[in-house]
Amino acid sequence: MRTSQVSIEFTEDLLKVVRPFIREYLSHLSEKGIHAEVGINEALNNAFSHGNDKGTVRLTMYEQNRKLIVRLKDNGEGFEGNRTPHVPPGELDHGRGLFLMESFFERVIYNRTGNELLMMKYIRD
Ligand SMILES: Nc1ncnc2c1ncn2[C@@H]1O[C@H](COP(=O)(O)OP(=O)(O)OP(=O)(O)O)[C@@H](O)[C@H]1O
Ligand SMILES: [Mg+2]
Repeated sequence: MRTSQVSIEFTEDLLKVVRPFIREYLSHLSEKGIHAEVGINEALNNAFSHGNDKGTVRLTMYEQNRKLIVRLKDNGEGFEGNRTPHVPPGELDHGRGLFLMESFFERVIYNRTGNELLMMKYIRD
């Protein structure tokens, strides 16, 4: 179990650097790590495409009591995150992000404003 926490703040142009870093951070979790990576990528895509594409996001990851905890804060206006249905999308080309996040994390919770996200995934049997 990893005990240290990582927290990074970055702009969209650094995504190409951050994505491999996230993959590396999760690599010891094998299949669960790959699943977590998919969910985190969707959250990051949303943070920049619906949040604020010119702003920064803060991503925090740590492990606690057999759980992977991921927090993501963007500086956009947010949305009604907990009320938006996280169900399989009807349209083929969008609306998949929340569904994938819900599929790969046990908990997906937004703050009241909808610009900050907490995701939790069990990583040990
Ligand atoms: N960080 C965010 N800030 C503001 N609105 C958001 C944020 N994340 C999601 N949303 C809203 O929730 C909707 C659903 O998000 P979701 O990721 O499921 O689909 P999408 O981003 O529209 O398409 P896809 O992810 O399939 O490319 C978005 O269209 C957007 O309106
Ligand atoms: Mg999306």
